[in-house]
Amino acid sequence: MALFITFEGGEGCGKSVQSKRLYRRLSKLAVPVILTHEPGVTALGKKITRLLKWSQDINISPMAELLLFNASRAQLVEEVIRPNLEKGVNVICDRYADSTTTYQGYGRGLDMATVVAVNGVGTQGLVPDLTILLDMPVEEGLARKGEKNKDRFETESSKFHKRVREGYKKLAETEPERWLVVDATQSKETIAGIIWQRVSRLLPR
Ligand code: TYD
Repeated sequence: MALFITFEGGEGCGKSVQSKRLYRRLSKLAVPVILTHEPGVTALGKKITRLLKWSQDINISPMAELLLFNASRAQLVEEVIRPNLEKGVNVICDRYADSTTTYQGYGRGLDMATVVAVNGVGTQGLVPDLTILLDMPVEEGLARKGEKNKDRFETESSKFHKRVREGYKKLAETEPERWLVVDATQSKETIAGIIWQRVSRLLPR
């Protein structure tokens, strides 16, 4: 059975760099793999993302946010993730349902049982085999992103982002066998090495 690996973390933690590195390393070894990300890969996902990230002029409630991220996710699972896993292609996804648990659950303060239930619908029960958390202090991550072109999430307070970070840590503690927590303040090479150690053990010999 193919592997489903997700990357998670706060703003500026380096997920996209590390997910690309892992994708390239697996591809070089001729391991069948695709790299995708949330939100906004499918045609529907792109439209939803534009709304969620850039609509400054309309009000989007936390509950609507929860549902919209999961609408985009349902499309991605059905159109991209599940068909590839079924074909035996490993899937790497930059953000997945844990982003909703942390941003809409811990960050926005939505009722956790509701978030878990809606995520269950959006993912259609598909849980990653491995989730890599790139953890770094909020201020450091936000500083890496810079001041230009901030979206609806990047303009949130550092208190919001601290709740997101703590939320990730709690999730990882509750399910340690699924999560790999990596200190994302280390060099890119060190981080990639730690990730590779874990992923290579999961690959069939
Ligand atoms: P984007 O720039 O696409 O991603 P990244 O931060 O990974 O580079 O922004 C996506 C934003 O949406 C990011 O701030 C996290 C947020 N988000 C949620 O709030 N809930 C979710 O379920 C997902 C997938 C993302």
